[in-house]
Amino acid sequence: MPKVLISDKLSPAAVEIFRARGLETDFKPGLSAEELLDIVADYDGLAIRSATKVTKEVLAKAKNLKVVGRAGIGVDNVDTAAATSAGVVVMNTPFGNAITTAEHAIAMMFALARQIPAADRSTQDGKWEKSKFMGVELTGKRLGLIGCGNIGAIVAERARGLKMRVAAYDPYLSDDRAAQLGVTKVELDELFAEADIITLHTPLTDATRNIIDAGAIQKMKAGVRIINCARGGLVDEVALRGALETGHVAGAAFDVFVEEPAKENVLFGAPNFIATPHLGASTTEAQEKVALQVAEQMSDYLLTGA
Ligand code: MLT
Repeated sequence: MPKVLISDKLSPAAVEIFRARGLETDFKPGLSAEELLDIVADYDGLAIRSATKVTKEVLAKAKNLKVVGRAGIGVDNVDTAAATSAGVVVMNTPFGNAITTAEHAIAMMFALARQIPAADRSTQDGKWEKSKFMGVELTGKRLGLIGCGNIGAIVAERARGLKMRVAAYDPYLSDDRAAQLGVTKVELDELFAEADIITLHTPLTDATRNIIDAGAIQKMKAGVRIINCARGGLVDEVALRGALETGHVAGAAFDVFVEEPAKENVLFGAPNFIATPHLGASTTEAQEKVALQVAEQMSDYLLTGA
């Protein structure tokens, strides 16, 4: 029987499915890189979230490995080129956490518009700073989406429900899909010039790295707000810090950072900056769904090659 190692904190649903499908399964979250190197040769499948780094070295030791399953969307923590040359299939679960991540972006939008984290800190500190926390309404505001795939489309639908006007820059968005979502397709410069709030929902690639840099920020309206629940590196953090200091960008809410875990970051402490520790996919529902999906997909592959 094929053997599977779960090396990150996946929902127990994954263990149950692997075992129910007859696979021998070890659940060992929190292994160090050395510990993983020592044991990985025993396994046919490796199920991970984002903590395990599947490097060239790991793949070189993993003589029996046939599949790496990422319970989530991004496979940034897997050396996919090395996996391909070793004949190891890398699979992800592109749908299971899309709603949850979209909801986090919407939560960040409300948090920014009404300065909820700062107002909470101030109130619990015993201040009653009613006039300090003047907010803005979302109704009627222009939301600019950079990326309108699985997650961006859900954000668009929710934002339309909030009576926002939604525009999207996405080279892969068809006219029909845009019309179905009630979204206006725009070029990037138009989005920068028109949006009151910009939210990113695109992977990090060579084409999207620093898609918001100092030049892009200059093209934006004064008072724009920026949300990044997609990937660190899409926004030039130093340029954004400068724009938050001058007030050209009125606020930003980030769940993702160039370096993670982000124990320190140039954006920390900037005016009207809100941070969360890559919580986009962190709901019980999403973690159950991705665990279930990855376990089913990996079991199918290991048992039938399909
Ligand atoms: C993903 O790629 O699925 C998300 O960024 C969530 C995560 O890394 O856990």
